Amino acid sequence: MPTTRTRTSSNTNRGRSSGSRSSNGKSRSSNGKSAFSWGSNGTGALISAAVGGAALAIAANLGRKFFAQGMSARAGDWDDVLIAEHDMALAIFDKMLATDPSQSIKRTMLLKKLGHALDKHTHEEENVVYPALRQADDKYDADLLEGEHGYVKTYLYELDQMGSDAPNWLEKVREFRGMVEKHARMEEDEVFPRLKAGMTDEQNAKITRLVNKDGFMMA
Ligand SMILES: [Fe+2]
Ligand SMILES: [Fe+2]
Repeated sequence: MPTTRTRTSSNTNRGRSSGSRSSNGKSRSSNGKSAFSWGSNGTGALISAAVGGAALAIAANLGRKFFAQGMSARAGDWDDVLIAEHDMALAIFDKMLATDPSQSIKRTMLLKKLGHALDKHTHEEENVVYPALRQADDKYDADLLEGEHGYVKTYLYELDQMGSDAPNWLEKVREFRGMVEKHARMEEDEVFPRLKAGMTDEQNAKITRLVNKDGFMMA
């Protein structure tokens, strides 16, 4: 396998109220509410618009999450989902390695993308898969792999701190990729198959549901 594998407003309240003046001279609407109460002037429309905007933002965010996790979940069982995410992360690394120092904005964007992908992936493993591994009496591998995730965060931190135009940026990315690939290989070739084989279909289905739920939350 080569080093760089390719698994590679409408204002509905605009109508003037038929309000009369109250004894204190303040304008009141026909229903007796102050002209400055909710919904009786432009304020209500603004609030409606703001609420509508927030709802749209929430809907857009949900759509993004469904899309992001849907891409992984389509892969199949929990191990297939995680393997697909390994491939996605390695593909981002390859794009980073194909850049030159003049592409500092592209490098910064790719690093953000990689950080997000790895945050989501490591969260799924640390909160679902590794606990299941410990329950299956494989505490040693769970602790080893979780310890390596600490170095994933360290590489991300170092790359963020050094700046994308640093002379040793590519070298650091290459080193980081090598570490992630080795880690992923151990999961894919040894740890995941063993864990999967040791669980019933129901247990595997539960881990798949939990990984997808965690991934959706982190997407
Ligand atoms: Fe991992
Ligand atoms: Fe992994």
